Amino acid sequence: MKIDRRLLMTGIPLIDRQHEAYADLVDRLFDLARRGNVERQMLFLERSAVIQYAMEHLDAEEQLMRSEKYPAYEEHRAKHDFFRDWTDTLSSDLEGDVDLDEYAKSLSKWLIAWFCSQVQTDDIKLALFLKHKMRG
Ligand SMILES: [Fe+2]
Repeated sequence: MKIDRRLLMTGIPLIDRQHEAYADLVDRLFDLARRGNVERQMLFLERSAVIQYAMEHLDAEEQLMRSEKYPAYEEHRAKHDFFRDWTDTLSSDLEGDVDLDEYAKSLSKWLIAWFCSQVQTDDIKLALFLKHKMRG
C-alpha cells in the first residue's frame, strides 16, 4: 500500500512536487516497518531523510508565503513550528530498549497523518489564495 498522493495535491506545481517527494520518503519508512526486523541505523537514516526534506519543504513554503504576502502566514507557520518542535524531541529516542518495528510503524503513520491534515487545512487554503492571486 502506498500513500494516496491525491490527499497531498494542492494544484500548485512547486508545492505538489515537494509533497510527492515527501510521500516517497515516508513510503520508504512504511516499507521498512512492513518488512520488520528494523535495524536501528537504517531507521535513523530513513527518519533523518524524511525530516531533513520536510524542513526544506516547510522553509520553501514559508518563503513563498512571505514573497506573496500571504495574510494567514503566521497561522500557517505555527503549524510548521509544531513539526519543528516535535523534531527537537527526537535526539535520543532511538537509543536503548525500543521496539524498533513498532516505532517505525507508528512513526510513519504519524508522519503522514500530520502532513495530510496540514495539507488539507493550511496548504489548500494557501493554494486557493495563490490561484486567486494569479488570476487576479
Ligand atoms: Fe504547509
